[in-house]
Amino acid sequence: MPESKRPMVTIVGGGMITQIQILPSLYHLQRLGAIGDIAISALNGAPLKVLAEDSALREAFPGQGFTPYPDFRKVNPDEKFPALFEDVLRKMPKRNIVFIALPDQLHYGAVRKALENDQHVITVKPLVLKHKEAVEIEHLALSKGLFCGVEYHKRFDDRALMTRQQYRSGNLGEFKLGHAWLNEPWYYRDSNFQNWCTCENSDMFTYVGCHYVDQVAFVTGLMPTEVSVYGVKDAYPNGRDGYLWCNAIVNWSNGASLSVLDGMCYPNAAPGGNTQGIQMFCKGSKDACVVLHDDQYRGLKHCYERPSDNKTYHEPSPDYFKLVYRGGRGLEPVGYGYRSIEALVRAVLRVEAGSDLAARQTAIREIDAEGILSTPANSAYNELVIEAGRLSILNQGRPVVIEYGKAPTVRFKEYR
Ligand SMILES: NC(=O)c1ccc[n+]([C@@H]2O[C@H](COP(=O)([O-])OP(=O)(O)OC[C@H]3O[C@@H](n4cnc5c(N)ncnc54)[C@H](O)[C@@H]3O)[C@@H](O)[C@H]2O)c1
Repeated sequence: MPESKRPMVTIVGGGMITQIQILPSLYHLQRLGAIGDIAISALNGAPLKVLAEDSALREAFPGQGFTPYPDFRKVNPDEKFPALFEDVLRKMPKRNIVFIALPDQLHYGAVRKALENDQHVITVKPLVLKHKEAVEIEHLALSKGLFCGVEYHKRFDDRALMTRQQYRSGNLGEFKLGHAWLNEPWYYRDSNFQNWCTCENSDMFTYVGCHYVDQVAFVTGLMPTEVSVYGVKDAYPNGRDGYLWCNAIVNWSNGASLSVLDGMCYPNAAPGGNTQGIQMFCKGSKDACVVLHDDQYRGLKHCYERPSDNKTYHEPSPDYFKLVYRGGRGLEPVGYGYRSIEALVRAVLRVEAGSDLAARQTAIREIDAEGILSTPANSAYNELVIEAGRLSILNQGRPVVIEYGKAPTVRFKEYR
C-alpha cells in the first residue's frame, strides 16, 4: 500500500452490480479520501465504456473516473481478454484492494489470484461455490495478513442490525419458525441471466436465497444443518431452462425451520424493484416473540410526470442504494449498499494499520470474531448451504444434511 495509506482499488468485473453499487460507493470513498485510484478490469471493453459514459455517475461524481482494462478507446469493444485481469493484479503494488464482481463460478480463481499477488480482497457474494475453497482462502489470506471480506449488504440494513442486537441480548426468545422471500422482477428473464442462471449452473435460491439464510445466521448465531430446495423449471426467452421459481426449506442447529421463496415473479407492472422480507417466530419464556421485516415496504409512493419506464406510479426504495444531493458538489450514496462497502474498505484500513504481519493477523481475527462483516472464517456456512441447495434442487428437492466437524461436508439425508 502507498505511503499515504489510501489503497488503490481494482474492480474485476464491470457488470450490473459494479454499475449500480460498487463503483458509485468507491467513487464516494475516493472523494472522502479513504481510497486512491480506481481501475476496472472486464472481459471486454463494451461494459467499461458504458460505465465511463454513465450519465448518472457523471452527474454524481463530476471529475472522477477509473482506468479501464482493456482500454475501450483502443480495442474492439467485443474483443475478449479473459486473462487480462491477472496481468493487472500482478502489476498492482502489494497490499491494495481487489474487488471481485465476476460471475459466481469465477470467484474462486480470481480471489486466489488476488491473494497470491498480495492484495486484500472484497468480493460480492457468494465468496465461492464450495466450502473447502472458502477454507483454503481463509488460510491463505490469514497467512499473508490480508483481509478477505464478502459483501452481504443486507447485514448493513439497520433493521437486521437492530434485530441482531435484540436477539443476541435474549429479548426475542429462541427462533423456531420462519419464512423469507426475495422475488426479483419478471423482466430479469430477458436479461443476461438467461445466459448463466440456467439449471446446470445456478437457480434463484442460490442467487438470492443466500441473503436471508445469511441473515438468520447473522441475527441468531444458529448454523444451517439441512437444506431442501424444490425448483420449478421454466424456459427463458432464449429457450434455455432455469429454476425460475424456488421453494427452499432450511433447518437450523436448534431444530428451527425457515422456508424461503425466490423467483423471477415480481410483476413488471408492480411499483417497486422486487418483493422481499422475513418473518421469524420465536419461543419466549411466557409468550411467543416475533420479528416481522417488511423489507420491500418503502413508505414512498410517487406518481411521475416523466417516468423512466412505462409506469407512472412507483414505490421507490430508499433503503438499498440511492444517490441524493446533500450539499456540496455532486451526489452522495445512501443506503445499506453503500454502508456495506464502506465498512469492508474500512476493515482493510484497520488491518493495514497493523505494524507487522502479526498485528495484521490479530486485526483479521478480531474482525472474524465480531461477526458483523462476512469473512471466510465466520461465514463459510453460506458455501455449505449453496452446496447442499444445489445437490437438492438437482434431485427434485431431496433433503441434504450439512455435517460440521473438521472437514464439513454435505450428503443426502438418510431415513432409518
Ligand atoms: N444482491 C447481491 O449481493 C448481488 C446482486 C447482483 C449481483 N451480485 C453478484 O455479483 C456478481 C456479478 O454480477 P453482475 O450482475 O454484475 O453480472 P454481470 O453479468 O452484469 O457482470 C459480470 C462482469 O464480469 C466480467 N467478466 C466476466 N469474465 C471476466 C474475466 N475473465 N475477466 C474480467 N471480467 C470478466 C464481464 O465483463 C462483466 O462485466 C455475481 O457474483 C452476482 O452473484 C450480487
